[in-house]
Amino acid sequence: MSYFLWFLVVLLASASDAAENVELFQDWIKGVRRRIHENPELGFDLVETSALVRSELNAMGVAYRWPVASSGVVASVGSGDRPFVALRADMDALPIQEAVEWEHKSRVPGRMHACGHDAHVAMLLGAAKLLTLHQEQLQGTVLLIFQPAEEGGGGGKTMVEEGALGDAEAIFGIHVSTEYATSTIAAKPGVLKAAAGSFEAVISGKSGHAADPHLAVDPILAASATVMSLQQLVSREFHPLDSQVVSVTKFHSGSSFNVIPDHVVIGGTLRAFTDENFMKLKQRIEQVIIAQAEVYRCSAEVSFMEPSYPATVIDEEAYQLVRDVASDMLGGSNVFVAEASMKGEDFAFYLQQVPGAYIYLGIRNETLGSVHPNHTPHFTVDEESLPLGAALLTAVANEFLRRKTSEAGQG
Ligand SMILES: *[C@@H]1O[C@H](CO)[C@@H](O)[C@H](O)[C@H]1NC(C)=O
Ligand SMILES: [Zn+2]
Ligand SMILES: [Zn+2]
Repeated sequence: MSYFLWFLVVLLASASDAAENVELFQDWIKGVRRRIHENPELGFDLVETSALVRSELNAMGVAYRWPVASSGVVASVGSGDRPFVALRADMDALPIQEAVEWEHKSRVPGRMHACGHDAHVAMLLGAAKLLTLHQEQLQGTVLLIFQPAEEGGGGGKTMVEEGALGDAEAIFGIHVSTEYATSTIAAKPGVLKAAAGSFEAVISGKSGHAADPHLAVDPILAASATVMSLQQLVSREFHPLDSQVVSVTKFHSGSSFNVIPDHVVIGGTLRAFTDENFMKLKQRIEQVIIAQAEVYRCSAEVSFMEPSYPATVIDEEAYQLVRDVASDMLGGSNVFVAEASMKGEDFAFYLQQVPGAYIYLGIRNETLGSVHPNHTPHFTVDEESLPLGAALLTAVANEFLRRKTSEAGQG
């Protein structure tokens, strides 16, 4: 029996039927994930997913606040008193057509849980269940945050604005990852994810016959030069050992062979490892687009999509706690140091308010084919990792409250 199964047995033990309880728990948590997987919803509009979360919480007798950020739910387990710690799961799916053929494939054409948020919800409900079983032993209160709109829309920001964090002194989140094998985890202190945003610009000239360029003002040339200039910002204006990205991903204009169009729309993404560099990059992108358009007698209007995501910066102490707990459960050799990435994560909005850590939970299993990256149509989750994720969240919350309480006792 693996160590974490032993942990589950302890958590679920009620005299002699512990093994049976473990099996029931495993079946239940997989079932929750499958029901959510079959019915993926997008953005803030998570009517069914949110209802499922609430009905499971009702069945456990766990109190919650709803609606928060339209479909979000904040449940609470424990003494009702300080210290408070928060655990967070995102709930939204993606506009991707599932390509995995299995019994519980998405029933909604063009939508899929391709980022594993169905697993995140199941694991947080699992943690609610495990915490509730030992509610009277908890040395404080655990807030369970089920949030919408992680994949755009900044659901985390709205949750924070609507008070989801309450009196929480720290927050922990988990994300499944096919980069790490099942029964392993990865975490990292410091910057984990970039500050991320997107921009769009309309570059306007004057249309005319393509045979008479001198009578027109060509926005295609202006926009082309703009793209080239934007690509020099990172290489010439930022420290070479620091990381930034500008990617132009849209370039739309024209519809005929012999007409110079009157405008071009370009757009793309900007990312940086610090919020300060993100602001600097944002400002320079706007300046460069406007000035470069002017060189070619065009005008430009630049807009930035809101909200942009802040950098996700992990607290050293919270990271150590995750390492300690995960090493106990899985053995130190199954706890890896994660790599930072230029992707964005709206967990950052919580971390602007309180310290915390983010855990990658391995779900890679070659036999099952859970090897494809998230946000792709073949993405799939090794469901054996669900009980582990629930147990890990439970243990992390429990240990945080224990450490806080013993610190307070000494102080
Ligand atoms: C992968 O999944 C198969 C089938 O469920 C299982 O037998 C195997 O132990 C798993 N491998 C790992 C590394 O978890
Ligand atoms: Zn995602
Ligand atoms: Zn995700």
